[in-house]
Amino acid sequence: MRIPWLKKKAASLAGVDIGSSSVKAVELRKKGKALELVGAGIAELESGAILDGEVRKAPVVSAAVARVLEEGGVCASDVATSVAGNAVIVKRILVPAAEGEALTEAVLAESQRQLSSDVSELNIDYQVLGPGSAPKTLDVMLVAARREMIGHRAEVLSASGRNPVLVDVDAFALQNAFETAYRPAAGKRVALLNLGASLINVNIVRDGSPLFTRDIPVAAHYAAALQKSLNMSPAEAEALKGGKEGAAVTETLVGSVAEAREAFLEGLAGEVSRTLSYFRQLVGSTGSVELDSAFVSGGVARLPGLCERLHREMNAPVEILDPLRGMHCSESSLDAEHLAEISPRLAVAVGLALRSFDER
Ligand SMILES: Nc1ncnc2c1ncn2[C@@H]1O[C@H](COP(=O)(O)OP(=O)(O)OP(=O)(O)O)[C@@H](O)[C@H]1O
Ligand SMILES: [Mg+2]
Repeated sequence: MRIPWLKKKAASLAGVDIGSSSVKAVELRKKGKALELVGAGIAELESGAILDGEVRKAPVVSAAVARVLEEGGVCASDVATSVAGNAVIVKRILVPAAEGEALTEAVLAESQRQLSSDVSELNIDYQVLGPGSAPKTLDVMLVAARREMIGHRAEVLSASGRNPVLVDVDAFALQNAFETAYRPAAGKRVALLNLGASLINVNIVRDGSPLFTRDIPVAAHYAAALQKSLNMSPAEAEALKGGKEGAAVTETLVGSVAEAREAFLEGLAGEVSRTLSYFRQLVGSTGSVELDSAFVSGGVARLPGLCERLHREMNAPVEILDPLRGMHCSESSLDAEHLAEISPRLAVAVGLALRSFDER
């Protein structure tokens, strides 16, 4: 998907994913046909800096952006970022076949008809996916996001000293990262799930097109679930969540952690299952809805047992997405082991950095 807002010209740009718990940045360059990682990093954000997708503490967020760019060796002065969640509407619409200005007008007219929000408060963009199901129509992916939200993200990036040139959507950046790293075979239906601190970005893709996208709000954080069920401090719960419980706690606690993890996994599996049912309901009448495979990314992708649990739920093999798959990394400042550990969290940032190579 190639849906940008802002659309300024940029020679090369870095991707900056501003999540509710952390900022991730990636810069790539092309070396012949191969992609090379120039810089990458993560900075954790204090809780409350971003709430419900809104930037609440702009100076804190822009300081984190500046830090991650500097420490991650990201040099590009132009940056791309993304938005997600309930401020974003992604919808497939059917419009009368047209081109250029006439097509834009047709899309805007249809948006006005279909969106309940005030269209003047939205930034609207679209991409033609192909001919529509009815004669002389086009199948169009409409993307709308609250103008204010895009503005806030751009301000944070400017305040960090960089130049915001493009605003994408998490789910589409995720798709670009996946397609570049894995080159899926034609006709394969793949579910992409980016499991973060506040949202699960879902994008079911086939042949380069999103069949279904949805951002599910995360009901409970894993660390919070541990904290509550085990009656411990937030710091203790954070330390436990990586599955490193053996070193720090007693055997009884190990059992309780496993129980809390099971309960958390059940909750997640339930959310994913409800979303898949909805997907099946939506497209079921027009064809098969079986998945060929699924990939998980984001911080929660590292949760022990997640892939196995989701495999049962989705009836398809599930693996952890490595958005850096097949890329070279020549920078000695980037520690390979650390990169391998954080790579699933970089999926959206990689997808954004890939926009550098868009035809302009
Ligand atoms: N090993 C792990 N097991 C389970 N959860 C983990 C693990 N490591 C990190 N997390 C969780 O992953 C989340 C952070 O992931 P990520 O950086 O992808 O989120 P984000 O992009 O900031 O959030 P969002 O995009 O939803 O606003 C946190 O909730 C953190 O507790
Ligand atoms: Mg995220």
